[in-house]
Amino acid sequence: SATRAVPAPRGLPVLGNTLQIPAHSPNAFLDALAAEHEEGIYRLEILGRRVLFVYDPDLVAEACDERRFYKGIDPPLSIVRDFGGDGLFTARGNEPVWGQAHRILMPAFSQRSMKAYFPQMLQVARQLVASWERRQGEDLPVSDDMTRLTLDTISLTGFDHRFDSFSSPELHPFLQAMGRALTEAMLRNRRLPLVTRMMKRREAAYRADIRAMQDLVDDVIRRRRAAGDTSTGDLLGLMLGAADPRTGRRLPDENIRNQVLTFLIAGHETTSGLLSFALYNLLRNPHVLARAYAEVDRLLPGDAAPSYETIMKLDVIPRVLEETLRIWSPIPAFAVKPFAATEIGGYPVAKGQTTVVLLPPLHRHPKAWDRPEEFDIDRWLPERRKEHHPAAYKPFGNGERACIGRQFALTEARLALALVLQKFAISDPDAYRIQVKQTLTLKPEGFTLRVRERLPHE
Ligand code: HEM
Repeated sequence: SATRAVPAPRGLPVLGNTLQIPAHSPNAFLDALAAEHEEGIYRLEILGRRVLFVYDPDLVAEACDERRFYKGIDPPLSIVRDFGGDGLFTARGNEPVWGQAHRILMPAFSQRSMKAYFPQMLQVARQLVASWERRQGEDLPVSDDMTRLTLDTISLTGFDHRFDSFSSPELHPFLQAMGRALTEAMLRNRRLPLVTRMMKRREAAYRADIRAMQDLVDDVIRRRRAAGDTSTGDLLGLMLGAADPRTGRRLPDENIRNQVLTFLIAGHETTSGLLSFALYNLLRNPHVLARAYAEVDRLLPGDAAPSYETIMKLDVIPRVLEETLRIWSPIPAFAVKPFAATEIGGYPVAKGQTTVVLLPPLHRHPKAWDRPEEFDIDRWLPERRKEHHPAAYKPFGNGERACIGRQFALTEARLALALVLQKFAISDPDAYRIQVKQTLTLKPEGFTLRVRERLPHE
């Protein structure tokens, strides 16, 4: 039975803790509060809602029990629904279309599908390398170029659409609209709806950004339909052609539009953050970088072309990615709520109460991790993996609502890092100091690096 009082930092009458949360860096604030509360749980009052935050691994294990908790669609996700609609990411668990789309799309994320996407992933990764070859010695904007890579990869493999992002010095208008819409969703999370309604110009700009993204998506779908070929096994082909094996139903047009937009966003924004943080970690840890070079030289000597099989043989690079996702999770939190009133570790949780799993303090919790602040890729050796706390690592979320694109992201990221290290010596002469920017997801802001082609035997 629930016997313990949840720590609750004081707020103001009516507004509660709302105004304490900084608009542009909510998660930095939430993580700092976690550092002050050793209980591994605290509660804030945000616009009249009492929200729980948990990061003790034992409490998180309970919140991840799917018999008791389900994915919550509350702010900010309920705001992202303005453009994600009933797409997989923002669908409510009780909407039948979630299960239909999940079953239709699962085959598109199998190992066999990753192998089928590989030639296109390689094509885009080569565009990154070619672009950097031309810009040797310049300060390269890492997050922007990783965003070009990941957006072009998901759109080419998933929808046979080419953004050709590397041919333009500006980020594609779709990306600019998306960045603004995600930021606005984050800001609205702590703004009274009344205030939002009063900000007429902001509202108009937000709606225009959503429309611009939807127009692009509608165009991609229209062209595929016009080509008359819906039989290809990519994401769009499956959605247009396949029926749900359980119900025999096809996806409604409106849902397909929401899915395409969801995949364009979910399918690139986070992987771009992962790759940017991974490059940052490699530069900060030269001994790890040396091991990554040694691995690439062994598996991809000279200018050998990588195959899917070679990429699957990598060992150091995947561990760099796993450790990067521990220290810098691009998605810093996810939310669940209980079907009925319950308790976790003796703390009461009301029916339907939003319970946010905070990933940075979980992923660095001293109960679960040795020297948690250290970037140590050997934590991910098979024998040490067995010692991990079962609920202390959740960069891809939990259970049936966990990330469907996990293998896609990891395959794409392994390939990109391998190609970059095969070709270039990387450095950051300005010794970049990490500054995290949040637009719902996290990225290192203002991080640049330089490359030059490696000499033979270097
Ligand atoms: C869900 C993280 C890459 C598509 C999620 C969730 C997390 C996550 C934490 C659960 C969110 C929640 O519970 O509210 C990541 C990270 C990625 C990544 C860290 C890269 C490193 C991708 C890629 C795709 C993708 C490449 C698509 C190709 C999705 C979708 C969902 C999802 C569709 C919703 C699944 C559902 O509820 O049915 N992701 N993701 N993600 N992700 Fe990813």
